[in-house]
Amino acid sequence: QTIAAIVPAAGVGSRMQHTTPKQYISLAGKTILEHTLAKLSQLPQLNSIVVALSETDPYFDDLTLADPRIVRAIGGKERADSVLNSLLFLAANPPAWVLVHDAARPLVDIADIERLIAQCMQADEGGILASKVKDTIKRGQSHAQQTVPRDDLWQALTPQLFKYDELKTALQNALNSGVTITDEASAMEWANKPVKLVAGRSDNIKITTPEDLDLAGFLLQKQNN
Ligand code: C5P
Repeated sequence: QTIAAIVPAAGVGSRMQHTTPKQYISLAGKTILEHTLAKLSQLPQLNSIVVALSETDPYFDDLTLADPRIVRAIGGKERADSVLNSLLFLAANPPAWVLVHDAARPLVDIADIERLIAQCMQADEGGILASKVKDTIKRGQSHAQQTVPRDDLWQALTPQLFKYDELKTALQNALNSGVTITDEASAMEWANKPVKLVAGRSDNIKITTPEDLDLAGFLLQKQNN
């Protein structure tokens, strides 16, 4: 069964307070986006790797990318728009499945991705990498009002793997209805489709704030040694 990867990389990363968008910040010798694409390149199962970029992206062409499966698409206003545009980019020759992975998650473990693919294909349903919530979670504004039971709470990670047609329909409908969509699974849940939770490593962090950079730099250095 064919699988295309989609890498949303069209964000500006405002929470990073950095002059370049976070996917182009260098860590352990190369940009975050290059680290992420190098990980996906290790998967022979992928037929293509579509990177969604801002229309005015001046950085991508300067990267060193050897994998001929990598192609660029134009992103959109929000992450979900970038993913939908990438799905439409693939419409002429649609894959059976799409594996969506944040550009900002260079630490993902290849064995975790392989497990996600194997388990989803075997069950013939979509799914995501996720890790069990470890902290005690509070609800509240200025003061804690309630401690939320955490036994069934998961932190959603990426990659997220869904059937091409189902994800395209779910995203289109959810976006048209104005629901808030922060990952592919939220569109699928909204469409009442199953989303398998596949336990993955919790160090697959999304680099978002300046303190994430130090941690990610340390972990990447360790992985690359
Ligand atoms: O901002 P956040 O960390 O949630 O973004 C997650 C991923 O989605 C990043 O890799 C970012 O580049 C991407 N993104 C995108 N298009 C947008 C906004 C974010 O591809 N409009």
